[in-house]
Amino acid sequence: ADAMRIAVFAGDGIGPEVTAEAVRVLQALDLPGLELVEGDVGGAAYRKHGHPLPPETLEIARSCGAILFGAVGDFSLDHLERRLRPEQAVLGLRKELGLFANLRPATVFKGLEDLTTLRPEVAAKIDLLIVRELNGDVYFGEKGTRTLDDGRRQGWDMMSYAEDEVRRIAHTGFKAAMGRSKKLCSVDKANVLETSQLWRDVVIEVAREYPEVELSHMYVDNAAMQLVKNPGQFDVIVTGNLFGDILSDQASMCVGSIGLLASASLAEGTYGLYEPIHGSAPDIAGQGLANPMATILSAAMLLRHSFGLEDQAARIEAAVGKALAQGVRGGDLGGTDGTRAIGDAVLAAL
Ligand code: NAD
Ligand code: IPM
Ligand code: MN
Repeated sequence: ADAMRIAVFAGDGIGPEVTAEAVRVLQALDLPGLELVEGDVGGAAYRKHGHPLPPETLEIARSCGAILFGAVGDFSLDHLERRLRPEQAVLGLRKELGLFANLRPATVFKGLEDLTTLRPEVAAKIDLLIVRELNGDVYFGEKGTRTLDDGRRQGWDMMSYAEDEVRRIAHTGFKAAMGRSKKLCSVDKANVLETSQLWRDVVIEVAREYPEVELSHMYVDNAAMQLVKNPGQFDVIVTGNLFGDILSDQASMCVGSIGLLASASLAEGTYGLYEPIHGSAPDIAGQGLANPMATILSAAMLLRHSFGLEDQAARIEAAVGKALAQGVRGGDLGGTDGTRAIGDAVLAAL
């Protein structure tokens, strides 16, 4: 379709606060045919419809070219059976819409190396992309709890990957590496896990199709250490769902803050869901304190990947960089600027 129809799912906690600022930025760009369609997700949707991902929300998602997503999560609903918990909204969208490839870029902002808790000269070299598989792994395996014969309670979650699942995310990783500095590091735990051994074998098979890419393998525990010791050694990291979740939060802190990292969750083709990597931050929700930059940067990724609007995406990213360079700092970066003020600063820099 010619129209730019974008679903906006704000969700819980700081979700609506940060999403509102990203929407203001999109509206300021005067995009021809822009149409924003709101839908309920997470705890908010549960309270209204009795389900964190109601059918009407899925229908909106399917009628749009992309989704801008805030965050879901509400501790007061954590007693619900798992299928009704807020987090099932984002997990359900990823699964239902085949969003298997999660791109989480982490790049230090030029001149802002002092934002991180790493030494500035270490942080200065960070320019990496985590490619996280999003439809498999321990997230979607069989799970349950039971009481053993001797009365002890037990919980389990089955970790698995099928080779086709590994193959398609490996291709995403190699293609991303081809467009960057042609270095790919596959992160696994093949010294212990069968799932990881298969992962590694399949990544090596796929590597034959990308002879120009220098492939390395690293165990996830070492990767966590290396990310802090020398993050500049990484270009593209490809990894499974759980390891990618953990390493991307860590990478955010290496760059400066979790309030800065955006992500794209992509299907085959141009369709995608775009969200900050952070959650609903209940500790600061409703106070106008959240940093909306990660969500604003997610909107930039949306324009680039789903609508091919590279110029507009770059314009948003430059505006965020400029606001930071001017000294705008959310509480996550030790500053006092609130959500709206940060949005204003980015709009002004646009
Ligand atoms: P979180 O990312 O919500 O918060 C972690 C810490 O970072 C908190 O101290 C929070 O105040 C701070 N923080 C996060 N985003 C910030 C921002 N934009 N500006 C300033 N500070 C920010 O993680 P959590 O506390 O572990 O989880 C809270 C809820 O969010 C849980 O219910 C969890 O399941 C959910 N969650 C959802 C998503 C998602 O929707 N994709 C992602 C992560 C967590
Ligand atoms: C993320 C979140 C989600 C995940 C949760 C909320 C299901 O932590 O998007 O990083 O684990 O993928
Ligand atoms: Mn996470």
